[in-house]
Formats: sequence, structure tokens, C-alpha cells
Amino acid sequence: MAALYDPRSLPADFVKVYGGTEDSVQVFSSPARINIIGEHIDYNGGKVFPAAINRYLYVAVRKRGDTKVVYNDLKFPGEYKFDINDDFSYSKENGYANYLNGILSQMKERGFHFDCGFEVLMVSNVPSAGGISSSSALECGFAYAVSETFGFGISRVEIAKLGQMSEHRFMNVNCGIMDQFIIATGKKNTAVVLDCDTLNYEYVPLELGDFRFVVMNTNKQRRLADSKYNERRSQCEQALKQLQDGGVKISALCELSPEQWENSKGLVTDELLAKRAAHCVYENQRVKDAVASLRAGNLERLGQLLNESHASLKNDYEVTGIELDTLAETAQKQDGCLGARMTGAGFGGCGIALVHKDKIDSFVENVQRAYKAAVGYEASFFDCESGDGVSRFSCK
Ligand code: GLA
Repeated sequence: MAALYDPRSLPADFVKVYGGTEDSVQVFSSPARINIIGEHIDYNGGKVFPAAINRYLYVAVRKRGDTKVVYNDLKFPGEYKFDINDDFSYSKENGYANYLNGILSQMKERGFHFDCGFEVLMVSNVPSAGGISSSSALECGFAYAVSETFGFGISRVEIAKLGQMSEHRFMNVNCGIMDQFIIATGKKNTAVVLDCDTLNYEYVPLELGDFRFVVMNTNKQRRLADSKYNERRSQCEQALKQLQDGGVKISALCELSPEQWENSKGLVTDELLAKRAAHCVYENQRVKDAVASLRAGNLERLGQLLNESHASLKNDYEVTGIELDTLAETAQKQDGCLGARMTGAGFGGCGIALVHKDKIDSFVENVQRAYKAAVGYEASFFDCESGDGVSRFSCK
């Protein structure tokens, strides 16, 4: 695995790019996330259970004396230049700058006023397009950095909403709120149980004893826009409509308990739509069970729920594929592993496994071997700890 960038070097690297002095540069960090459980239900009014992890993207910022906006990234060559008075809109050739411009366009739409331009240098230790939310880390990290630099004081929940709106309006991805929410609000040593219907949330201590979450990256790149993400979302809307037309009084699929679903599922006549809806209802129940299990210190039960979640995402929601199935199903069989599943949107990206700390080396070796044999190239692995949401970073 490539060595991680040491963010304490960022002010010096900033000065190499833009000149001036290091003490004029402000640095912010923005984490990746894992979703422990609750997949594809944030846009169905469900509960999700993500945690921010200790892999970060860093954003260094400094105001300018003119109205220019300049972006550089240490890992992506090329400089992007705009003017703060531009009417920001999506453009393919703007690459990663689109994520940043999407945030600026949202801020301007909400009436935030910029009295000058600014320059940015970023660097990320989060694998890109890898399923642990590199893009939300970018959106929320940038939004927080700009908000703090210009004294906008935008709240964490509003930072999350800005990020989500920018995905919807600018990037054309109809994502839920989970990723941006956990990246904005995460706290070390906790996971967050978020009710995506009301946006009520609670921090749950992430006490894993001798166990760790291992992130397993398929190294199969994918973008939400070209995946089947929007299609799944519209299938859920169709299933909901059939239930509502049949007289069920709900506004989101996850309002149904498993029992209510079993009593009304006959209204969803299309078999495929019924499978999608079944996943949502049962996944929502698994989240509640998972939170209760963690609170009770029952990690074995949590592990089983991870396995059940993966099976449902494979068979009913159909968002896994050979890469994620090989990782999760091989992981589930390993000594010292309590459970494993895909995490995030699926179709590639990452899985997670709950593994005893003394077994991580043999776990990685065995899962890697099986993965390479089945898929033809290697996966990547790292064990993580929980991390903090978007923050000011001290380089001292
Ligand atoms: C992506 C989206 C989230 C969520 C997950 C699936 O990560 O950004 O909003 O829908 O997929 O749970």
C-alpha cells in the first residue's frame, strides 16, 4: 500500500505552490467513512449506522487579495482557476474541481457572500472512487474549510446538506444524506445512528474490544453516476407507489415493520420491485438490532447481522458482484472474523469485516489469496479506527 501523506507537511507544500508564508495557511481535515450497517435505505427514510474513520483528506486554504479561486491537489496534477464571481456550473473538463464548484454554487445560492477569492491545496489519504466516500470527504471538507475561512459558521448538519445538494444539482447523483452527514458530524470512538427521515441522530460508543473493522477494497473503480444507483432509487419509488396506491399510508418504505411488510407485500406485483422493498424493510430492522447488539456488547450478533445484510444486498438488492461477494463471503469464513459485508453503494468499492486484532494478518493473507484467484487482481486492506468529522487540523 502506498505510504500515507503526512499532513504536517501541507503548509510547506502550499508555500511551494503559491508562495508566501506557512503561517498564513489554514488546514482542515475531512474523514472517510464506513457504513457499519443500513445500506441503500438512507433514501428510503431508514436508519443507518455509519462511522467516520481515521483516513482523511486535507484541505489547505488561504484568502487572496483578488477575486481568483485556484485549486491544486498534490496527487492530481494540473491547476484549476476560476473567479469567485463566476456562475459555477458543471463541466466535464473540470475534473475534481466540479465537487468544489458544486459547493461554491450552493453557498452562493444560499446567499453567502465572498469578499475575495482564495487558493486551495488538497491531498487525500482516502482511496478515490473506492466506496468509503472520497467524494463526500472532498465536498464536506472543502465546505467546512471555506465556511471557517470566510467566517460563515455553517453548522455541521448544514455542511452535510450542502454536500448532498451539490451531488444532486451539480453532479447529477441522487444520493442520500448518509455519507455527508457522518463526515460532517462524526466523532472519534463513536458511530452515529441516523434516522434519515427526521435527521435525528445519536452517538453510540464504538466499543469493539479486541475486534477491529478491516476495510477491504475491491480496487474495482466505479462512479455513482455510471453505476445503477439512480436506478435502484427509482425502483424503490415505484414499489412505494404501488403500496400507496393499494392504500398503505406511508411516505417511505422504511416506515413499514417487517410484519407490516409481510401483510402488504402482495400489493407490489412486480417481483423485482418486491425484492428491492423487502431489502429496505429488513435492512432497517437489522440496523435497529445492530445498534442494540453493540450497546449490549454482543459483537457475535452484530457480526451475524453484517452477514445477513450482505446476503440481502446480494440477492434482493443486487448491488454486489463477484468482487464484493468474494471479499465478504471469504471473509465470513475466516477464523477470528465475526461478520463481513459490502459497505457504501456497492458495484465495486469496499467491504468491511469485523476481525479479531490478532488474526488480521492471517485474515488478510487468506482473503487476498481467494480474491486474486477469483478476480484476477489484488484487493487492498487496512484496519481502521473511528475518526473525527470535519475539523481544523493543527500542523504543530
Ligand atoms: C452511497 C450514497 C449514500 C447511500 C449509500 C448506500 O454511499 O452516497 O447516500 O445511499 O450509497 O447505502
